[in-house]
Amino acid sequence: MPAIDRARLKSLMEREQKRFVDERPKSKALFERAGKSLLGGVPMNWMIKWAGAFPPFVREAQGAHFYDVDGHRYVDFCLGDTGAMTGHSPSATIKAIEEQVRRGITLMLPSEDAVFVGEELQQRFGLPYWQFALTATDANRFSIRLARHITGRSKILVFNWCYHGTVDESFISLKDGIARARRGNIGPPVDPSVTTKVVEFNDIPALEQALAPGDVACVLAEPALTNVGIVHPDPGFHAAMREVTRKTGTLLLIDETHTICAGPGGYTRAENLDPDFLVFGKPIAGGVPGAAYGFTAEIADRIAQKQNLEDCDTGGIGGTLAGNALSLAAMRATLSEVLTKEAFDRMIPMAERWTAGVEKTIAEFNVPWHVTRLGCRAEYLFSSQRPQNGTQAHDAMDFELERFMHLYAMNRGILLTPFHNMALMSPATDKGDVDHHTRVFQESVKELVG
Ligand SMILES: Cc1ncc(COP(=O)(O)O)c(C=O)c1O
Repeated sequence: MPAIDRARLKSLMEREQKRFVDERPKSKALFERAGKSLLGGVPMNWMIKWAGAFPPFVREAQGAHFYDVDGHRYVDFCLGDTGAMTGHSPSATIKAIEEQVRRGITLMLPSEDAVFVGEELQQRFGLPYWQFALTATDANRFSIRLARHITGRSKILVFNWCYHGTVDESFISLKDGIARARRGNIGPPVDPSVTTKVVEFNDIPALEQALAPGDVACVLAEPALTNVGIVHPDPGFHAAMREVTRKTGTLLLIDETHTICAGPGGYTRAENLDPDFLVFGKPIAGGVPGAAYGFTAEIADRIAQKQNLEDCDTGGIGGTLAGNALSLAAMRATLSEVLTKEAFDRMIPMAERWTAGVEKTIAEFNVPWHVTRLGCRAEYLFSSQRPQNGTQAHDAMDFELERFMHLYAMNRGILLTPFHNMALMSPATDKGDVDHHTRVFQESVKELVG
């Protein structure tokens, strides 16, 4: 297998950086202007991490594509890191938004749409009770609070190299088997090892050991890891996790924010999982901020028993704009008309096509990489072995190489999800979009090792 020649990689990267900058004078000028009012010249701190010298500034997006201010057209496989998995500005969602915007945006009172969405989520995920938040982070945070509240236990458990949004308790990782604040953790309120246990994904004996003392309120888990590359569960992992959580009185919180790519009811419905809590955010409202968390009837009873009317607005579960009329109108339209079973029936074959294209190039040049897929999400990883846990997936990451692959793609009109090599298909993504990626991927690998 050919090793990556680092000198060659460096010189190719320099060539691509120059091309990126030369072809984007308007983005460059906006970035320079932004540097005078925005920290680092970007509206969100991590936007400095895009592979180019600056991020392309966007002029407009529609369906599976967007244009930057310099007029370049991109196939968008990042899709707002799942926030726009519906495709950009789907017409059914726009129509609902346009109508609702004229009828009130936020009231702190329910609308009929809330009931419709609750009923729709019941059907999709099989959980009877639902609440809303504005972000998946908040939906996770509120579920964790409820889990601690009703179990009287102080800790949670997460899997190594997980990502569940900016949930304080989750910024922990194992170093030499010891749980510590994750590298880069900004100003943690307390040492996360006080609040959180962490074990490797797919490691049932470690999970059993961690849950045995009976001090963990809930396990917070993606059903397959998606944020460190895709790590699939081993056969039997979910059944064993459910058994050990039940045996130890630990609640199970499944975060479907990304794994909704598996189908209309996420991985939970596709694989018949049986969680106590479930979180679904990002694309639920077609890109309008919104998220939902659901739970079983038993959990609902336990919450109701501890509900305190006088203090229920200051208990740490809130958000003035959560459950607002606009988000709920957008959710109703998105769930009933955009993220439908028929849409997944188109999206998943596109991801299969993308995977097959990447696989062909990996085989052609015999690079020590592999490609994997979960529903309409696919990803290549820089290891020949499929990882079984977060550490193996993390060890396969190659920052330099990844940046080159992303920049090369961007210069040829393709946007991948940043910080790993993931592509997501929207209902609007077509074969031409996928084949464009296949060609560009083949060219990039050829330049690297051919
Ligand atoms: C699995 C998962 N859960 C939750 C979140 C948080 O979503 P948000 O940033 O919209 O709050 C993310 C974000 O990437 C995620 O990947």
